[in-house]
Amino acid sequence: KIKKVEAFEILDSRGNPTVEVNLMLEDGTLSRAMVPSGASTGEREATELRDGDKKRYGGKGVLKAVGHVNKTIAKEIEGKCFVNQRDLDYFMIDLDGTHNKAKFGANALLAVSMAFSRAMSQSANIPLYQYLGGSNAYLLPVPCMNIINGGRHADNNVDFQEFMIAPHGATSFKESIRMGVEVFHTLKSVLKKKGYSTGVGDEGGFAPDLKSNDEAVEVILEAITKAGYKPGKEVSICLDPAASEMWDEGKYKLFKSTGKHISSDDMVKLWENWVNQYPIVLLEDGLAENDWEGWKNLTDTIGGKIEVVGDDLFCTNKKILSEGISKGVANSILIKLNQIGTVTETLETIELAYKNSYNCFVSHRSGETVDSFIADLTVAVNAGHLKTGSGCRGERVEKFNQLMRIEHQLGKTAQFAGINAFKNAK
Ligand code: PGA
Ligand code: ZN
Repeated sequence: KIKKVEAFEILDSRGNPTVEVNLMLEDGTLSRAMVPSGASTGEREATELRDGDKKRYGGKGVLKAVGHVNKTIAKEIEGKCFVNQRDLDYFMIDLDGTHNKAKFGANALLAVSMAFSRAMSQSANIPLYQYLGGSNAYLLPVPCMNIINGGRHADNNVDFQEFMIAPHGATSFKESIRMGVEVFHTLKSVLKKKGYSTGVGDEGGFAPDLKSNDEAVEVILEAITKAGYKPGKEVSICLDPAASEMWDEGKYKLFKSTGKHISSDDMVKLWENWVNQYPIVLLEDGLAENDWEGWKNLTDTIGGKIEVVGDDLFCTNKKILSEGISKGVANSILIKLNQIGTVTETLETIELAYKNSYNCFVSHRSGETVDSFIADLTVAVNAGHLKTGSGCRGERVEKFNQLMRIEHQLGKTAQFAGINAFKNAK
């Protein structure tokens, strides 16, 4: 039974307002949840409700969403008994009544949904990953660390948004973090030596101006080797170019470097060349969300060799995912709670993916908080890999720290996913 629910306007890691909810159960259990916010968002994501009042935070305030929780949602759910997560989430979805949570805002609904999960787990005295995933939650993920930031996440000349390392050759999560952070620190000295900037972008990766997009991969490979690891064998590369941001009149515009336009076919060739040339195990949003034909071509071309993940393409939405499944598009889906707006719908999307042999890649947003919900979610569904920043910035490393706590708690029943986390990678 929910006794009290209260929302506040707080700040995310970019200094933009976001929603926090504090929730109390009848038995006195108190919990808190905070929602993240994206910059390179998919068009079909659930509505992130912002005030639009230019006099406050440049229009980015969330007092409307907060008000919906405190005035409307609270009245409807306080004093009510919800038997489980599904019961509460579908009650709120019906109350909102829109297909994309436009009435209350996904930021309002998700904060309540996450706070309820946490409260229920605390009340039952079980860890959050177990509340969400049951007693078979055992798999610790490969941390895909975004060590070079470009695109909309940094003010440099790199077109592609995320260059990640995957330290899959470790034997435990803790060791994979150590390997990843060692490469991150080594990359700093590699960049310094070349006279490049070592300032970081939104997700904690370095954000230097480089000679080309290829050079981002090359400096990372140099850092992996210099840190004492074998590229491909122990540490591989994952990419999220966030290609929807480059989509321009049916072509792809290298909008930060040369300004050149590339056709969809040529983009697929570019990725094919990169996959042949570099130890890449995962490519997310290699093409734009409105280029479904290209996506089919991309999947047919490289999907047998590496994991091909849809982020903006699917928006954690099971309806869009089923379209992808029936068309044979991608072989994995990015999972972001706030793209869909409740914990239950997120779990449903994950269930659909698994039933159809798609992988699930759990993700933070570029605007984050210190809430580590996604760390527990990743273990809950045995997703095997997640992306949540690089080796710095408190809001990113908090997720890694939570995963290290979970690994410790699971003890010998914990298993590290390793290379098998990546669909079709060898
Ligand atoms: P976003 O970026 O959080 O800014 O949307 C993350 C991503 O594209 O994966
Ligand atoms: Zn993405």
